[in-house]
Amino acid sequence: MTERKTNKNITLSSIVAIAKNNAIGKDNGMIWHLPEDLKHFKRTTLGKPILMGRKSYESLGKPLPGRPNFVISRNFENLPEREETEIFNDMESAIDIDKPSIKTTAIPAALPEGPFLYKSIEDGIAAMREMAVKLGSDEIFITGGGQIYKETLPYTDRLYVTVLDRDYDADVYFPQIQWDEWNIISEEKREADPEKNRPSFTFFTLDRKA
Ligand SMILES: NC(=O)c1ccc[n+]([C@@H]2O[C@H](COP(=O)([O-])OP(=O)(O)OC[C@H]3O[C@@H](n4cnc5c(N)ncnc54)[C@H](OP(=O)(O)O)[C@@H]3O)[C@@H](O)[C@H]2O)c1
Repeated sequence: MTERKTNKNITLSSIVAIAKNNAIGKDNGMIWHLPEDLKHFKRTTLGKPILMGRKSYESLGKPLPGRPNFVISRNFENLPEREETEIFNDMESAIDIDKPSIKTTAIPAALPEGPFLYKSIEDGIAAMREMAVKLGSDEIFITGGGQIYKETLPYTDRLYVTVLDRDYDADVYFPQIQWDEWNIISEEKREADPEKNRPSFTFFTLDRKA
């Protein structure tokens, strides 16, 4: 019999790409273009709930496809395309749990992308956990930006961090990672591409030490 997932065994992960000086963004956008990192982001988060701050959502302009998008704002007035946005207060109305396709762990055709709007990180994470249970997913993601990473890092279970071997000029930074608080689960180095002016970088997966 398959063990039914509960809120408690769902991992809270953060996924981010940082420069050597912890830079992550400038002028509400990304600073670099690293296609391999974008693929890594997509592969890692696809089919799983993701949560981001209003500014990061604004820089995307629409939900990322194939994932339920949760957006945090103290004031929904700030959100773009507000008229087209549905605000769900309960997951039953956001996801039809009777549809057979969403009882599998494969990416359901009817996977709701949102955005689902919440006024606090705690409420957003609680709703993501409910959504993950219904999707049969064992992981939920914080996908930025600076404010949301900073507020959630203290209780994040897993960190997928791409570290670029170069400093960048920025106006948003990731908090300093205390490496001794984490076990390195995997580490994959990629070489620089001088022709494209891309530095070398490393994909790390870190699990918080017990
Ligand atoms: N390198 C990477 O991997 C990566 C990933 C994601 C984003 N980024 C970059 O990060 C930058 C954006 O980060 P940011 O720090 O400026 O903004 P952000 O974290 O994306 O969003 C901040 C907004 O979230 C809402 N918020 C924050 N804390 C909240 C709380 N406790 N309760 C309710 N709402 C809360 C507020 O929205 P309201 O003002 O509407 O109330 C706040 O203005 C961009 O440059 C983006 O490109 C980089």
